[in-house]
Amino acid sequence: MITTSLQTTATVLERSLLSEENYRLRLHCPTIAERILPGQFFMLRLPGCTDPLLGRPFALYDTAADATGEPVAIDVGLHQIGKFTGLMSQLPTGAVLDIWGPLGNGFPPFQTEHLIQVAGGIGYTPFVAVSREALAGKRYGSPARQPIQAQRASLIYGVRSRALRADLSDWQTLPGLDVQICTEDGSEGHRGLVTELLEPMLRAGSAQKKTVLTCGPVRMMHAVAELCRQHGVACWASLETPMACGYGACFSCVVPVRDAAAESGWDYRRSCVEGPVFRGDQIVWERLLAPTA
Ligand SMILES: Cc1cc2nc3c(=O)[nH]c(=O)nc-3n(C[C@H](O)[C@H](O)[C@H](O)COP(=O)(O)OP(=O)(O)OC[C@H]3O[C@@H](n4cnc5c(N)ncnc54)[C@H](O)[C@@H]3O)c2cc1C
Ligand code: FES
Repeated sequence: MITTSLQTTATVLERSLLSEENYRLRLHCPTIAERILPGQFFMLRLPGCTDPLLGRPFALYDTAADATGEPVAIDVGLHQIGKFTGLMSQLPTGAVLDIWGPLGNGFPPFQTEHLIQVAGGIGYTPFVAVSREALAGKRYGSPARQPIQAQRASLIYGVRSRALRADLSDWQTLPGLDVQICTEDGSEGHRGLVTELLEPMLRAGSAQKKTVLTCGPVRMMHAVAELCRQHGVACWASLETPMACGYGACFSCVVPVRDAAAESGWDYRRSCVEGPVFRGDQIVWERLLAPTA
């Protein structure tokens, strides 16, 4: 499904704290809210700001509707790590941002028995909309797209420590969602890596009845994709490759992807246009992880 992207403005309606260093902003922006799909993203920029000059990409956390049920706002879940996210985390209600989107492909629609979402750190943000579409019948896009459908869903969510784990109230209302937390320091849930919780889920039952979606640090997504490959389970990864333009012009976001037509067997794809969601077995992970000269 192709969505037309727009350049417009968005107004901050509210800001809330999700956890230490993590915020959620609700932005009034009806034209993007009515079009955007789970897994798509948008670029945000502060008007008149020269530091940073370039926009920054953010995944759709979810859309919010007005009293008539029309989507009028988009939520963004934000990890404060640098200049722009630092400025965003302090924006007052009524502040205006430049925005362009919806951008990228988003997660494809599919039917599965068990939807397994594997998130690391702020990479959990795209899974709020995915879970609501798959489990609560929420619809996205205009006209509404063919939804992701699942009989049940799991969210495996890994963070460094309990203090960084986002508030889970957006998940708790979803029927049939099982949330499993793991922390590196053991301060909550399983002590260890998301793959240690994923492996037994992949081993149980038929591989054809499961679909894995993953978003987070590249090393984590590589490990998830590799485990899925070993178990024959379909896997889609949403990459958070740094981006400068967001609409295909600058090639700052390229990702190595398998390509049988290329002499080397792989070629670059722009994550902002052909991604940010790619099939896990299509990404050349070793090359993506290799340090650049
Ligand atoms: C498609 C997509 C969706 C995204 N969705 C979200 C989201 O929902 N919530 C969210 O908080 N962030 C998201 N990000 C990441 C977000 O865009 C960056 O965190 C943001 O651009 C940082 O800007 P800054 O000015 O605060 O930090 P900067 O000052 O630019 O950078 C601070 C530090 O973070 C590093 N850094 C910057 N961007 C990235 C990145 N993408 N990956 C790894 N390291 C990085 C820099 O190298 C630097 O060390 C997404 C990125 C992409 C591509
Ligand atoms: S960010 Fe410019 S081409 Fe992708």
